[in-house]
Amino acid sequence: GTTGLPDQFGRVARDLRVSVTDRCNLRCTYCMPAEGLPWLPKPEMLTDEEIVRLVGIFVGLGVQQVRLTGGEPLLRRSLVDVVRGIAALEPRPRIAMTTNGVGLDRLAQPLADAGLDRVNVSLDTIDPQEFATLTRRDRLHDVEAGLKAAAAAGLEPVKVNAVAMRGVNDTSVPELLQWCLDRGYDLRFIEQMPLDAQHGWDATSMVAAAEVRAHLEERFTLTELPAEDRGSAPAELFLVNGGPATVGIIASVSQPFCAACDRVRLTADGQVRNCLFSRTETDLRGPLRDGATDEELARLLQGEMWRKARGHGIGEPGFVQPDRPMSAIGG
Ligand code: GTP
Ligand code: 5AD
Ligand code: SF4
Repeated sequence: GTTGLPDQFGRVARDLRVSVTDRCNLRCTYCMPAEGLPWLPKPEMLTDEEIVRLVGIFVGLGVQQVRLTGGEPLLRRSLVDVVRGIAALEPRPRIAMTTNGVGLDRLAQPLADAGLDRVNVSLDTIDPQEFATLTRRDRLHDVEAGLKAAAAAGLEPVKVNAVAMRGVNDTSVPELLQWCLDRGYDLRFIEQMPLDAQHGWDATSMVAAAEVRAHLEERFTLTELPAEDRGSAPAELFLVNGGPATVGIIASVSQPFCAACDRVRLTADGQVRNCLFSRTETDLRGPLRDGATDEELARLLQGEMWRKARGHGIGEPGFVQPDRPMSAIGG
C-alpha cells in the first residue's frame, strides 16, 4: 500500500498539530464569545494513552514534528504526561506547543524535562489596557512570566504570535516588536482568519499583512528574506534593521501559503482534519475504541489526507467557514 501522508496535489503531511483541550482561560474577542463555548464532554475527549497511540501512527506515516495546541493546552492537567509519552516514540518527533502563556511560568521546566522542545506564545499587545480589551482578562503579567520561564527552561527559539485588530492594537505593533527584540523573542504577526466562534469575520475589518508592515516601517527598516528559505513555514520573515533579528508576518488570507502546506490536525475528540478550513473530518476515536488496528487507523488517516483541498478558498465564491471554531482546532 501507500506509505506516508500524501494528497492529490503533491503535498505530504509531516507536521501534526494536536489539540489537547478545547477549553481556554482567556476570551480573545477574535476567537470566543465572552461566555465561552459548550466544552467537549470528558468521555468524548481522547485519553493520554489514546493521544500517544494515535501520534505514534502519524509518526509511522512520516510525521516529524508534533505541536500541542488547544484551546489552551496548559489547561490539560496531564499535559506533562502527554509530552513524555510522545517523547518516548521511535523515531522521536520534535515536540512544540502553542500556548497563551498563562501558567507557563510553573510548567515550562517540567514540560522541558518531559521532552518539550520549544513554544510559541500568543501575545497581541504589551499594553495592559489593550490586553484586557482583547482577551477580556487581566493576565498580562502571567504571560510575561510565562515567556521568561520558557526562555529560562531552554524552550527556544521562543516565538510570539500576535493578531492585529483595528482600533485596538494595530497602531501599537512597533512597541510590541521593540519589546520582543529587547528580550530575544521572535515575533510574528498573524492575519485574522474566518475561524471565530461568533462567525463575525469580514475581509475589510481584518488588518492585512501590508498594513502591519507599514506600521512597523514607521519605526524599523524591514528587509525581506529570500522566499526559498521559507519552506513550508507559514511566516514570511524580514530582517529588522539589517538583522540578525527577524519579524514574521503570517499572511494566511492576503498571501495564502496552502501550496506548501505540510500540516495535518487531530482534535481533542479524536477527529482528523486535513486543513484548518476543511468541511469534513475523519473520526479516529470511534474505530480506535472499537478495536481498530494501527494499520486500519493508518488507512483512515491516509484517506482524510487524500481529500485535502488545493487551498482554503477564503474570498472565493462558495467559501463556507467550518463549523468547528479555531479554539477547537488549535490554529
Ligand atoms: P512554527 O513551527 O514555529 O513556525 O509554528 P507555526 O507558525 O506553524 O505554529 P503556530 O501555532 O505558532 O501558528 C501561528 C499561526 O499560523 C496560527 O494562527 C495558525 O493558525 C497559523 N497557521 C499555522 N498553520 C497554518 C495553516 O496550515 N494554514 C493557515 N491558514 N494558517 C496556519
Ligand atoms: N485568525 C488568526 N489567528 C487566530 N488565532 C486565534 N484565532 C484566530 C483567527 N481567527 C491565533 C491565536 C494564537 C494562534 C493559535 O492562533 O492568537 O496565536
Ligand atoms: Fe484562548 Fe487562543 Fe482563543 Fe485566545 S485565541 S481565546 S488564547 S484559544
